[in-house]
Formats: sequence, C-alpha cells, structure tokens
Amino acid sequence: MEANEERATPARAARGTVTQLLFGQLSTHVVAAAVRLGVLDRIGAGTRTADDVATACGTQPQATLRLLRALAALGLLTEHEPGTFEVTAAGALLRNDTQDSMAALARMFSSPVMTRAWERLEDSVRSGEPAFDAVFGTDFFSHLKGDPELSQEFNTAMSQGTRTAAQDVPAHYDFGRFTTIVDVGGGDGTLLAAILRAHPAPRGMIYDTAEGLAQAGARLAAEGVADRVTLETGDFFAAAPAGGDLYLLKSVIHDWNDEQCAGILRHIRQVLPADGRVLIIEPVLADAVRPDAPAVIYMSDLNMLVNVGGRERTRADFEALCAQAGFTITGLTPLPAPDPFVLIEAAAV
Ligand SMILES: C[S@@+](CC[C@H](N)C(=O)[O-])C[C@H]1O[C@@H](n2cnc3c(N)ncnc32)[C@H](O)[C@@H]1O
Repeated sequence: MEANEERATPARAARGTVTQLLFGQLSTHVVAAAVRLGVLDRIGAGTRTADDVATACGTQPQATLRLLRALAALGLLTEHEPGTFEVTAAGALLRNDTQDSMAALARMFSSPVMTRAWERLEDSVRSGEPAFDAVFGTDFFSHLKGDPELSQEFNTAMSQGTRTAAQDVPAHYDFGRFTTIVDVGGGDGTLLAAILRAHPAPRGMIYDTAEGLAQAGARLAAEGVADRVTLETGDFFAAAPAGGDLYLLKSVIHDWNDEQCAGILRHIRQVLPADGRVLIIEPVLADAVRPDAPAVIYMSDLNMLVNVGGRERTRADFEALCAQAGFTITGLTPLPAPDPFVLIEAAAV
C-alpha cells in the first residue's frame, strides 16, 4: 500500500462514520414504515417473496422489494435468494403480533409526538428548555392526557421498553424482605408484576395518573398478580401514598428537572418508614463518556431534554439529588450489560 493511501484510510473511515450517522434517521423511517405496513407480520415465521408481501399489504411491488431489501441491509430480514425474504431474530421483535414485540416502541419513537421536538434540538441546547412545550403548546404528559389513544400507545411502548429490565431486576435485589412495594409512576405494572412473580411474599401498589394506570388492570391480570396489587391514582408532585416500605422509581426521575425530582422524593420521604428504602432504576452516566459507553443513554439524555425537560444523571448528580430530599445512597447495583440500568438504593438520613 502506498504511503498516502495508508494515510487516506483513517480519513475514509471517518467519512464512513459521518455518512452512517447522517443516514441514521432514515433507518428509523425504514423500521417505522415496515411496522406500520405490517410487512414483518406478513412474512411471519416462514419465507415470502416481495410480490406476496406487496399483495398482502396492498403496496406497490417494486417499492415493496426496495423496502424489504433496506430491511435486509439493516439486519431485520435475510434475502436467501433474489426477492425472497425471512425475518431475523431482531426483525421478529418488530412484528406486531408477538409476546415480546417492540413494535409499539418503534411506532412511538417514530411518531410526531417524539420526533417533532427533535427537529428543534438546537433550540433546546440554546435554552436548556424542552422544545416540546413550544412545538405543542403544552408539556408532554399533559399532551398525552388529552389524547387517550396516544397515551395507550405510550403505555404499551413503555411496557415493551421495560421488558428486559423486568427480566433482570427481580434477581438483582432482595425484594423479598419488604412487605409492600410501591411502584411510583409504574405505568401498566410490567416491572412490578415481574418482581412479584419472582418474590411471592410482598404485596404491591402502582401509583400513577389515571392515564398511566389505564392498562394496568389488564397487564396485572395477564401476569397473574392482580390480587396482590392495588392501583392508586394520584399526582407524585402532590403526594406519595403511605403504606409501602419500598418505593420504586423506574425511568421516572429522568423525566424531570432537579427541583421536580426533589419534590417527588420529599413526598416519599414523608411516608417512608424508618427502615424503608427507595429504589431508583436508571442508567448512571460516567463522569466522562467512556469509549464503550452505549450511545443510547446519551441519546436518551437528549430525548429527555427536548421532550420533557429531564436528564440522565451521574452518580454525583444522584447523590446531590438524594441529599436535597433527605436521602443517602446505600447501594448501587448495575444490571448485566447490555441492560444500561443501575439499581440505586437510598435510605432516609
Ligand atoms: C417514562 S414512564 C415510566 C413508566 C414505568 N416506570 C417504566 O419504567 O416503564 C413515566 C411514568 O410516570 C407517570 N407520571 C407522569 N406524571 C405523573 C404524575 N404527575 N404523577 C404520577 N405519575 C406520573 C406516567 O404516567 C408514566 O407511567
């Protein structure tokens, strides 16, 4: 290899990196269109030709072939022979009709309610404020309140996004020593149900808004734990329900700014028994970005900035937040990679 060709190689790799980043959002649209058209469901567990898929979906044959080939290039399909496709393990997660589906998550992340504020990311970086409020004229959760269908889709997306953590969390903390576990902002109860199924002694409570709880009854019944859980409708900025000795907060603290989070934690502090605990379940950012850090947690951090005005936090941030509300951190247990979550246990001081 000539000397200047060798010098050119890192430059070419750098150009490739930038090109891939620029095409990143197009990949999201490819995935979203596939989910909305139901093409992965039509292929199902076997192999199908692009023409079959086009007929089943009512789409134009050549454009369908191009979409399927893009999905194959993204690792969601395999093209065994020209024009014939099979769904890969990753592609199967985007079918609408399976137990472990991530399709609602795909629909939510490509929906205008998530993407329109991202078009104004630079505004949020300038101001430090969520662009969502300026675009929609209200905050994210109030917007959901006014649109029950969208709210249901959000709850389903959260449930699908929580499933991996729900598999990992129960074995990584001694839940069995508590009497009543309250999942604050627990949504449809996907996490609490997994914990209660693994630990038969404790009872549970989900504390959420009326919209947040709308799918909880059905989920808890499907998981066989409905008789061990009460549903409590309320606003965590106004109060926390008494009666628990463990209060969970998964993917709730990152939705809010420090002052709002301290308010939520102070309400819990008021009702927490002396030997009670709070368990915050969120990623913990390193002080500086490590080369092996999953980019998804930094994308999530900006997603919180643009859409809700919250943030992902470092250990020092969590310590300061807990101290502000009268808590001290008593344990940090990371879940196994690639799950980015850490169980952050706190006790009242
Ligand atoms: C990002 S979701 C997390 C859901 C669930 N903990 C999980 O990890 O899948 C935030 C939750 O907080 C709830 N929430 C938002 N504002 C609330 C409020 N003021 N009071 C109680 N719950 C609220 C939402 O309804 C939603 O269920």
